[in-house]
Parts: sequence; structure tokens; C-alpha cells
Amino acid sequence: MLQRATAFAPSNIALTKYWGKRDHTLNLPLAPSLSVTLSDLGTLTVVAPNPDLDDDVMMVDDQELDPAGMTKVRRVLNIIRQRAGTQVKAGLRSVNTVPTARGLASSASAFAALALAASKAYGLDLDERELSILARTGSGSAARSVAGGYVLWHGGTTADGSDSYAERVFDAEHWPLKILVAVVADQKKKVSSTLGMKMNSAGTSPLFDAWIGQCQRDVVTCQKALQDKNMRALAEVVEGNALAMHATMMSNRPPLLYWQAPTVALIHAVQRLRSEGAECCFTIDAGSSVVVLCEPQDARAVADELAAVAGIEEVLQTHVGSGARLVGDAV
Ligand code: PMV
Repeated sequence: MLQRATAFAPSNIALTKYWGKRDHTLNLPLAPSLSVTLSDLGTLTVVAPNPDLDDDVMMVDDQELDPAGMTKVRRVLNIIRQRAGTQVKAGLRSVNTVPTARGLASSASAFAALALAASKAYGLDLDERELSILARTGSGSAARSVAGGYVLWHGGTTADGSDSYAERVFDAEHWPLKILVAVVADQKKKVSSTLGMKMNSAGTSPLFDAWIGQCQRDVVTCQKALQDKNMRALAEVVEGNALAMHATMMSNRPPLLYWQAPTVALIHAVQRLRSEGAECCFTIDAGSSVVVLCEPQDARAVADELAAVAGIEEVLQTHVGSGARLVGDAV
């Protein structure tokens, strides 16, 4: 049965990163990764199958989605339509509550919301693993936005990607950390993570192979730090992993340098705060903004310090949350 369906999916922040693919079409990673799911920053998407439409059409934040984005959306919709045994096109509308293209993974929440809303709209009843695989075909990191809490994305080994999915390893209550996003006042980034990953995977960074090996080890270390709720251990692996990813990007030819001056100032601020006793650590995705994980009792003081750094547009405050869910029509 075809019906209108709406889903919300939160964004997620990688604690150990996905940066390198073994398959660029299916978004299969070279290494596993771990992430934390955000509570309220994400994407709300409504999917309405409509037999009168000649083609799929999608509005994102009241603008028509560009052709590159539409190709990825169609890839997900076509898989769903094939399984549902229908050719009917759909009208889609999305609203982001996470700033787009600034190194915050808006594509992660977008494709997780799409996978859930569209599968429901086309009458499929998929489990979390199937939804994760579906979301992954739109954007790799979206595989991790289906589940809530602390999430592990298995790299997998099969060519069809059937074992490359994400699942929760600890729920949000296990370690209810605060998450601060220091948004750097910056133009939208010029190199998308899709393109950046392709450039970097092409083998011009002498660090690339070592980076992938490091990711395999970091996932194990990071999961242990999460299990023990040990912020010092978490800081070592999470910060080290993010810096290693950026070192790999920077040593590419041509180089990928996502940082701005405030990015470096934020790194120093977090390291200083920790040396003064605050329980916090930072990570950075493919952008200039800095995400800080923080014990609740230190969150306010840390947020104030981050906001005082020159060039910071705003500090978003959120916490570990639950995964993608269906909601009543709201867009
Ligand atoms: O899923 P993509 O193509 O947006 O890639 C995300 C890449 C990073 O955000 C830099 C790392 C990660 O694991 O999320």
C-alpha cells in the first residue's frame, strides 16, 4: 500500500571516522567506525508517493534539491520501489535542524530519514539492519543515524555490502554526555566529503594506508573507553583519530584543508580546559566546525569558553539521543 509517511532522523558524530571507501557506489568503508547519535539535530522528511508524477521531486529547506543530491535520493528510492514492486514516483520534502555543509553530517540524518520514511511510504517493513544498509547507499555515515546511542558501523567484507551495517553498542543512558557544536563562521565548504574521500582514497597521501590501519585499532580502543565511561581514554582515541584523518587529508595532493583559524583555536581551548580538569574532548569532521563531547557538569563552562573563541558563529548544545523514528505528518 502506498501512503504518505514522515520520519525524523538525528545526525551523528563519528568518534572514530569513516574516511576511505572500498566501493564508491555502495558506500562500503575500508574500516569500521563508531559514532554518537545526536538527540534533536537532524532531518525531518515526508515522502508522498504520487502516481501523477513523471519523476521524483524533492524540496530541501524550501529549495529544490540539486541534481547530484537527487541522483543519490533516486538510488535509495529505486531500491525501495524495486522491492515494493512499483514504479510510482514520489514528492519529497525535508527540513534540516542541523546546519548544512559545515562539517556537520546533515547528509547522515537526511538519508536515514529518507530510508525510513520512504520504506514506510512504499509499504515495506524493514528492520534496523536493512534500514541501515539502505541509508548507507545514499550516504555512508547515514548507516549510523538509524540507531540511537553509541553506534558501531561494521565495515563488512562482502562485495554486495550485506554485512556493512550499523548497530547500537551502548544506549544513550549508558553515558549521557552533552555534545557541543562550535560552528565556525565560514563559507560553505568547497569540497564535499564524497569528493574529498574519493580524492584521498586515490592514493596520493603517504599516510592513507596507515590511517586505515589506525581506524581498525581505534574502534576497539574507543569501544572500551565508552564501556568504561573513561573520558581521558576517550579523548586520546577520539582526538587522535580526528587529527590523523585531517593529517591524511592535508598530506593529499592536492591537499584538503578544511580547518580555519578558529578551528585551531578551538582545539587549543579544549585541550587547555581538559588540563584544567574539565571532562571533555573534541572531534572534527570534513569541515571547520568543532564538536565537543562533555560530561554534563562541565557543559556550561565549556560552552561559554567555546563561544568566546573569535570567529565562532554559535555553539549548539545537544546530547546523546535515540535513532530514526516515524512521526505524524508535520512538514
Ligand atoms: O557519509 P559522508 O559521505 O557524508 O561522509 C562522512 C565523512 C565524515 O563525516 C568526515 C566522517 C564520518 O565518519 O562521519
